[in-house]
Amino acid sequence: MVNSINFLLLFSLLVFAPFCHCKKKVGGYLYPQFYDDSCPKVEEIVKSIVAKAVTKEPRMAASLLRLHFHDCFVKGCDASVLLDSSGTIISEKRSNPNRNSARGFEVIDEIKSALEKECPHTVSCADILTLAARDSTVLTGGPSWGVPLGRRDSLGASISGSNNNIPAPNNTFQTILTKFKLKGLNIVDLVALSGSHTIGDSRCTSFRQRLYNQTGNGKSDFTLDQNYAAQLRTQCPRSGGDQNLFVLDFVTPVKFDNYYFQNLLANKGLLSSDEILLTKNQVSAALVKKYAESNDLFFEQFAKSMVRLGNITPLTGSRGEIRKHCRKINT
Ligand code: HEM
Repeated sequence: MVNSINFLLLFSLLVFAPFCHCKKKVGGYLYPQFYDDSCPKVEEIVKSIVAKAVTKEPRMAASLLRLHFHDCFVKGCDASVLLDSSGTIISEKRSNPNRNSARGFEVIDEIKSALEKECPHTVSCADILTLAARDSTVLTGGPSWGVPLGRRDSLGASISGSNNNIPAPNNTFQTILTKFKLKGLNIVDLVALSGSHTIGDSRCTSFRQRLYNQTGNGKSDFTLDQNYAAQLRTQCPRSGGDQNLFVLDFVTPVKFDNYYFQNLLANKGLLSSDEILLTKNQVSAALVKKYAESNDLFFEQFAKSMVRLGNITPLTGSRGEIRKHCRKINT
């Protein structure tokens, strides 16, 4: 039965693909049943290792979710973020958004090694990242969705892509929106996916400017609640303490819910890039209010936007490779 469904799916893809204008939009042929025959336990294995890691350290859910984002915004969702430097490869781990910040690589290694035992040379590191992002969301209380699969892994990395494509917390609203649009995502995706900041941490260095000198006049950001700012200043001094950690959602820091949006309405978003969703654009402000009011609407859109994020220019067919180790290309 499963086999005939797969056959039908493949048949219709082959027959109708030439007439389908959707190829570019969805970024290749990914589908949730991709490993049904070749590695039927893939989802179970990924989930159990992510669950173990999140039980050990709740923040890991956030770190894995972010890793998928930082992968997809650079050369597409191709696991380029996982490569270490070697030979001609300069690792994206050294880029400004990732240095001293991106984490979760050991968990991905553990998943990969379990999958290589179960079904050697079959599951890509890019698909592992995508599944781990979904599982992290579910494990912290967020929505679930079917993950289209079939990505392959890159043969290289791009540190310049990592520096330039991934939005910075002090970018303007327009710059951030442009960076999303360049990846085929829209303002709805921007607001919904920013809701990821309902879990996880930020370093002092990522928002210090807001506390001391937002516009260069030596004053703090007036869109940040002044009591909250004073509290943050005690742990994030004018100089030093760069790596000190702060929760992104101070109400429910390890629970995936819509408090992120409620916090924005109370002027208690941590990053400048968070608060400007409310203060710099009417369309995004309306979305912030909508998601603050309805957890269901947020969850529904988040799931859709995560699929769109995961569909950014994947390598499919015979492009790229299935890496044996996620940190290096096959030799
Ligand atoms: C809209 C533009 C975005 C900007 C400017 C931004 C920026 C940041 C920054 C500066 C941090 C803290 C990093 C640190 O200080 O070490 C962070 C953390 C995080 N970001 Fe974003 N982000 C954006 C969008 C996203 C998206 C789309 C996702 C996921 C789909 C995401 C998921 C996360 C998560 C989960 C964390 C916490 C990570 C951890 O605790 O390890 N962010 N982000």
